[in-house]
Amino acid sequence: MNAPRNPAIHPELTDALRAAVAGKAAAARTLLADAAAEFGDALAFANSLGAEDVALTELILGAQLPIEIFLLDTGRLPDETYALLAELEARYRTRFKLYFPDAAAVEGYVAAHGIDAFRDSVPLRRACCRVRKLEPLARALAGKQAWITGLRAAQSPTRAGLATREWDAGNGLVKLNPLADWSEAEVWAYIHLRELPYNALHERFYPSIGCAPCTRAISLGEDVRAGRWWWENPDSKECGLHKHQ
Ligand code: ADX
Ligand code: SF4
Repeated sequence: MNAPRNPAIHPELTDALRAAVAGKAAAARTLLADAAAEFGDALAFANSLGAEDVALTELILGAQLPIEIFLLDTGRLPDETYALLAELEARYRTRFKLYFPDAAAVEGYVAAHGIDAFRDSVPLRRACCRVRKLEPLARALAGKQAWITGLRAAQSPTRAGLATREWDAGNGLVKLNPLADWSEAEVWAYIHLRELPYNALHERFYPSIGCAPCTRAISLGEDVRAGRWWWENPDSKECGLHKHQ
């Protein structure tokens, strides 16, 4: 028996949606090609393997753009994310660069606070994200002048007004968000039209996927980021990878 399909990720592929996606994909491809020419080796794409990042992977590797792609492997990612990593690497005959947390820093955090201490307080949750994501991100971005993300303005109130190109003061480099003005339906239409693989958790009502213990499914109609750090107040729900004014 087939698993029930999640309607949110299977929009009807109307002519209007196809046309919108074709226009936005062309604009994103131009942005990415221009960025590759402008920044050369000093450009990298932070790929979490979420739906947006699968679309970006195709926009980059489908056009054979020479852009480095990296994943921050926090050590707590879901099995489904690793399965997708292997699938994408096989499809594009490439290897993504993986950054792991500093072993001594993780050992210190776990020894001091416990394996799942991120549930105990917002400061301890942020400290876990610092050790498992932010320090590795700093290494991934060292020597870079620009990075690419899969952020979209519609993902959350903290991301409203997002531009396709902005100055990332926190990390001291240009941040490119080629899908900033894409809707969720446009992302999924692109994925299906290009027949791209995607994380099995999306079919199980996970719109936004991060670390396994900090991600859960949402109900239809809930905010797309409602399943991230769901025990916290919405205002604190950014891990620090992306800070917005
Ligand atoms: S987060 O800040 O809540 O974790 P989110 O999961 O929405 O971010 O992802 C937004 C963008 O941040 C992704 O499209 C990707 O560019 C980057 N990103 C998030 N997590 C990772 C990761 N583990 N590895 C690489 N990039 C990531
Ligand atoms: Fe730690 Fe959760 Fe942040 Fe992952 S998302 S780094 S497990 S607090």
